[in-house]
Amino acid sequence: MPLHLIDQYSPGSCRINRDILQNHGLRLLEILHCADQVFSIVLIDDQAMADFNHHYRHKKGPTNVLSFPAREGEEQFPGLESELGDILISVDTAIQEAGQANTSAHRRITELIIHGLLHLLGYDHERSEEEARVMREREKELLQQLLTKHLSSGRRTMPHLAINVDHVATVRQARGITEPDPVLAAGICELAGAEGIVVHLREDRRHMQDRDVRILRQTIKTKLNLEMAAVKEIINIALDIKPDMITLVPEKRKELTTEGGLDVIGNEKKLKKTIGKMRKASIPVSIFIDPDAAQIEAAADIGATFVELHTGRYCDATSQKERDMEFRLIEQSAELAFESGLRVNAGHGLDYLTTARVAALPTIEELSIGHAIISRAVLVGLDQAVREMIAIVKGA
Ligand code: PXP
Repeated sequence: MPLHLIDQYSPGSCRINRDILQNHGLRLLEILHCADQVFSIVLIDDQAMADFNHHYRHKKGPTNVLSFPAREGEEQFPGLESELGDILISVDTAIQEAGQANTSAHRRITELIIHGLLHLLGYDHERSEEEARVMREREKELLQQLLTKHLSSGRRTMPHLAINVDHVATVRQARGITEPDPVLAAGICELAGAEGIVVHLREDRRHMQDRDVRILRQTIKTKLNLEMAAVKEIINIALDIKPDMITLVPEKRKELTTEGGLDVIGNEKKLKKTIGKMRKASIPVSIFIDPDAAQIEAAADIGATFVELHTGRYCDATSQKERDMEFRLIEQSAELAFESGLRVNAGHGLDYLTTARVAALPTIEELSIGHAIISRAVLVGLDQAVREMIAIVKGA
């Protein structure tokens, strides 16, 4: 392995996803045409960094990054021909700097890896103003190249449209009879081109019934995404019918629809246990969360495969300014989640006007849309309503 990532940072104080940093380090070697070289990244805390800073630079206190090249000028240490050297990073300082720059800890650590790698390759910002400028420019370039490479490797196609057919069941339940049948509706959605069907089996069974989910499991040709609360009864149903994935959502008896994202931080233990059970049954788990950095990091930390970003506040915005602000939050969150190694879906409240902008985000894999499509279907028919939304999602 051309990169040794040594994590000496005490766990618990911050969630650092080693895989992301490892991937970034390896990609940087490729971009720099150094894939045959080896280097190490050592993650430490401020105390350890202060000791190194004092020992090697006679400076007081911690710094963010220190590099130790294996080569000094023309001199190569014997036996270390393929070695670039070691980079020490203080995670404490990186987190602090990330907060000040309003960016993620992973992004800041990646910037420090770039800085350290350039030092290992002979760049220096202390020798002269000109060299400092060249190094800064190269840092910017590398970060851009890394993120472009990262993003382009993430999504190969347009996002998928998964249709939530709960509202068909809502109409049926209003009469307490057998029609309209959400199972038939799901079939029409698939025939019109939907790439997934979503149903929410609520504890109060206000719309979807157990029978619907069981038949859908047998009839759906695309992908069944079961939305559910992390409660024993529904977990057992999911383990029994084995949907293609589940999406964990918060559930309140009195709400008209899901009102907000799950509080992953406050429910970490319960959610982690549910993810563990689903993992054993090979069912990927998505968590429906607000576009919030702390919730994203918590979702990555407990082993979710996906997050579904709540688009409700963006859709409900009452001014363009507010909508733009909410959109930026979704955009940044999608990027952060993607960088954290999560797959990213989005949904709630999306309609024929608000969907295009979210669908254009390069990190979004799937959109989950229900109400807007079923409402339009009442007027123009389900087939047409689905086809019109697919055209928007695919940017046609
Ligand atoms: N995603 C989640 C987690 C939901 O709970 C819902 C609503 O059931 C949706 C997406 C779809 O929202 P809408 O019906 O507003 O399109």
